[in-house]
Amino acid sequence: CLLMPLSCTSPPRTSRFFSPKTPESFASLMIRVRRCGGGLHDWPGKPGFELENHGAADEYVHVWTRAEGKKRAGCRPAEKKRGGKGMIADQTLRMAADRRNLLVGAACSPHLIAREPEYAQTLAREFNCLVAENCMKAAYVQPERGRFDFGPADRLVAFAEENRMRVRGHTLVWHNQMPEWMKTAGFSREEALGVMRDHIRGVLAHFKGRVFCWDVVNEALADGGGWRMKSPWFQMIGPDYVEAAFRFAREADPDVLLFYNDYGMDQPGSKADECYRMVRDFLDRGVPIDGVGFQYHLGVENHLDRSACAANVRRFRELGLAVHFTEMDMGIRKPITDELRSQQASEYANRVGIALDAGVSALVFWGFTDKYSWVPSFTKGEYDEPLLFDSSYRPKPAWKAVFDALAS
Ligand code: XIL
Repeated sequence: CLLMPLSCTSPPRTSRFFSPKTPESFASLMIRVRRCGGGLHDWPGKPGFELENHGAADEYVHVWTRAEGKKRAGCRPAEKKRGGKGMIADQTLRMAADRRNLLVGAACSPHLIAREPEYAQTLAREFNCLVAENCMKAAYVQPERGRFDFGPADRLVAFAEENRMRVRGHTLVWHNQMPEWMKTAGFSREEALGVMRDHIRGVLAHFKGRVFCWDVVNEALADGGGWRMKSPWFQMIGPDYVEAAFRFAREADPDVLLFYNDYGMDQPGSKADECYRMVRDFLDRGVPIDGVGFQYHLGVENHLDRSACAANVRRFRELGLAVHFTEMDMGIRKPITDELRSQQASEYANRVGIALDAGVSALVFWGFTDKYSWVPSFTKGEYDEPLLFDSSYRPKPAWKAVFDALAS
């Protein structure tokens, strides 16, 4: 498997990537690699296909199209093809982001990493950052009071480390995916603060040094303005639960970056203003906070005004905060047409443009393959195909648009 370092005595060589110019032509490519000390391995072509990985040197490489058949295989060493037809290029999102010193990430699941090699390979090849779609949420890491279960989350972090990826932590305090015991025990304010502190301490101590930032509080603001009063945390503690969470997190780990994360503030408007007021007040009063996460779960029909959205984001940066786009996806309302798919591509490019204009330091997608996305079930089947790879892991026009925007 390409992801696993192969034992190899030769020193690691620079990674080389095989990429034809258009994603469509990947489908017809075959790539043959002779691994050091090992046999020949053939793979169907993939964008940015990593011929060498983790020091596993390939002796030589054949690249051919399925139409040509193996007989006409080009047997030239990969580097000789640079710039030629089917040029060798470092065309993965990860490489484009690395060159900009940006994080490009995806939400993912440790179960799928273990089960589907293609899922794991695509993730490691294309992203330099990952976030747990679910397995670091309270319901999973503390299913019973005082009993933490970090198994799946540990496997995810180990995968990230093997593949030199950074890990965003998501999320410590949220009204959803709380274990039943945490929200239904009728805790007093003081007890609830204790529960929250113990949860934050337990999780941060466990992942210290391995997770570089945390969404400390998720979605505390209501859609219509003000606090989300139905949150069990709000009901048990009151509005100061948000700042209490940040203080507990800072006490638990002085080094990790602390984020507030929410949706609905991706465009200028009352929720963005509310969030801005909240974090500015935190900074004025010395509540520890390092960054803000903008989720960007928006359908393709939401055309975003690039300069207005960039200005909206930039004002947070000007407070000295980091900004991450944390949960990008872009569902297409059915029936889905190629025209809508290309609209999706240009809207994705627009979002990357907003991020680059505003100095956003991480661009995280809420998944990467349309095979696995929360969008169809969340929208009751109304929307689909929200991500950069199709359900067979082929790059979509949206992948190309994001790649080009990052590489430009
Ligand atoms: C979603 C996951 O994608 C789903 O699998 C799960 O059933 C519910 O949560 N905002 C967030 C994410 O902050 O944690 C949510 O993730 C999507 C909305």
